[in-house]
Amino acid sequence: MKPKVLVTRMIPRAGIELLDTYCEVEINNEDRSLSRVELLEKVRNKAGVIGVMADRIDGEFFDAAPQLRGYANYAVGYDNIDVPEATKRRIPVSNTPDVLTGATAELAWALLFAVARRVVELDAVMRSGQWSGWGPLQFLGADVCGNTLGIVGAGRIGTAMALMSKGFRMPVIYSNSSGRRNEVLEKELGASLVSFGELSERSDYVSLHAPLTPQSRHLFNTTTFARMKKTAILINTGRGPLIKEDDLVQALENGQISGAGLDVYEFEPRMAEGLAVLPNTVLLPHVGSATEKTRTNMATLAARNLLAMLRDERPGTCLNPEVFEQG
Ligand code: DGY
Repeated sequence: MKPKVLVTRMIPRAGIELLDTYCEVEINNEDRSLSRVELLEKVRNKAGVIGVMADRIDGEFFDAAPQLRGYANYAVGYDNIDVPEATKRRIPVSNTPDVLTGATAELAWALLFAVARRVVELDAVMRSGQWSGWGPLQFLGADVCGNTLGIVGAGRIGTAMALMSKGFRMPVIYSNSSGRRNEVLEKELGASLVSFGELSERSDYVSLHAPLTPQSRHLFNTTTFARMKKTAILINTGRGPLIKEDDLVQALENGQISGAGLDVYEFEPRMAEGLAVLPNTVLLPHVGSATEKTRTNMATLAARNLLAMLRDERPGTCLNPEVFEQG
């Protein structure tokens, strides 16, 4: 008999086709996340699940899924998974690193340029038919070349984003909660590891790539904004709660920083009141990994991970490999 698996949101076909060969697949075909009640009901008889960020994978979830042999996250970030709880129950869990690194780093650059050169605001000027002709003092933005780029969290995506700055000759500084040095960035860009406080003070552009943990939640708050340059631009393609969003609105309103480009929000899909009316923000609906190729690669990686777990094998990108150790 084929094992029963649940896919909590429709993912690209290539992933479903891989699963179909070996599993009986139930897919949530609706264009919305499952409610908690629906999720807990549907996992009751499942051996495996591919889920998304909105699905909370915790003790209650595992209790509701007594036959579960593996969970594959369709995301690289895994703050939605209680990994120690999964490990305690010897249930392997996986994520989708690497395949979305380039796409997410590219989107951080798209936001950075869009804010610096006011792309969205000025596109609206043209569409409104109100442009009266070229003027020397019109629509001035900020330079990118030669300005300092600060990377908060120089993991895979932060490193890729920083490396893409090469052509813009930007001094690069980075901070890591682990304090670990990034040899690639130091060798390729002459980047230096600094404290978070120093990064906040020195950067012209700050790009967030740190994972969301209890320590990194609200890393950017009123105190941080007060230390930043008034000309600084903040880019977040990581996780929304890295920023205390109400404090960000205030900092933008009061001119404590100059602008923000956001792809993620503290309470998705909502965003703080005030963000949308500010001209110095560019706001995207969590699309860091949203290219055809990347989402397809995420689907095949998640499906392969799940199939491995159903064979009691260690998946390629396992978050708790200790589950496969003897004893
Ligand atoms: C992730 O993978 O963590 C993104 O936020 C969704 O692609």
